[in-house]
Amino acid sequence: MDLKQVAGERAVEYVKDGMVVGLGTGSTVYFTIKRLGMMVAEGFEIIGIPTSIHTEKIAKESGIRLTTLEEHPEIDVTIDGADEVDPNLNLIKGMGGALLREKIVASATKMEVIVVDPSKMVDILGTKSPLPVEVASFGWKNCQNELKKLGCEAKLRLKEGAPYLSDNNNYIVDCSFEKIGNPENLESEINNIPGVMENGLFLGIADIVIIGTEDGGKLFSKPL
Ligand code: A5P
Repeated sequence: MDLKQVAGERAVEYVKDGMVVGLGTGSTVYFTIKRLGMMVAEGFEIIGIPTSIHTEKIAKESGIRLTTLEEHPEIDVTIDGADEVDPNLNLIKGMGGALLREKIVASATKMEVIVVDPSKMVDILGTKSPLPVEVASFGWKNCQNELKKLGCEAKLRLKEGAPYLSDNNNYIVDCSFEKIGNPENLESEINNIPGVMENGLFLGIADIVIIGTEDGGKLFSKPL
C-alpha cells in the first residue's frame, strides 16, 4: 500500500462543498488533488488556489476550478505535504521548491492540513532533511555565506548543472544542519539576511497532520 496515497486521500474529509481550497505541492498531496478531481466530476463544488505551477497543471487536468488570492484572499482549508514533521507539528517544507507560495497560501488559510508518510516524522527538525531557503538570484553567494555562518552546510540547489529556479525566479539554498535545536530563533536569524525571500520552517502553521499508515492513517492536531 502506498502510504503517501493513504494520507493524501484521507485529507479530503476536511474539504466541504463550496470551500476555497489551497492546493499544496508534492507527491503526497498529488493524491489529494486527484481525489478532489474525482469528487468534482461527481458534482462537488470547490475552487482551488495552487501553490506551484506544477500543481496548477495537475489541478487543471483533474478538472478543478482555480482562482487566485487576489480574488479569494481567505482560504478555508489548505492541504499540503512536508519534508519533516516534529512532535509539535512544526515542519520543514520546500524540497519541492514551492516553499514561498506554500507559506503565502498557508498564511491565508483557516485550516492547514499536512499529509505525509511515516518517513517524514522526526524528533528534532533538521535531522533528516536540509532546510530549503529561497533567495534572490542577485547576490545569492553573499546570502549563502551568511547562511553558512548560522552553522550549516549551505548548498545552492542545481538542476542539470545550472541553478534551480523557483516558480518566482529565485534560487534555493539547501541548508544542512546537524539538528535545529531552536527553530524560532533560527527562523528570525535567516529572515534577517538581506536577499532571503522565504525559509522552509513552518512553525505553528499546521493544524492537522495526517500520517499514512497501513490501517488508514493517523491524525494529529496542533498542540494547544
Ligand atoms: C514542496 O516545496 C514541499 O514543501 C513539499 O510539500 C514537500 O517536499 C513534500 O513533498 P512530497 O509529498 O513529495 O514528499
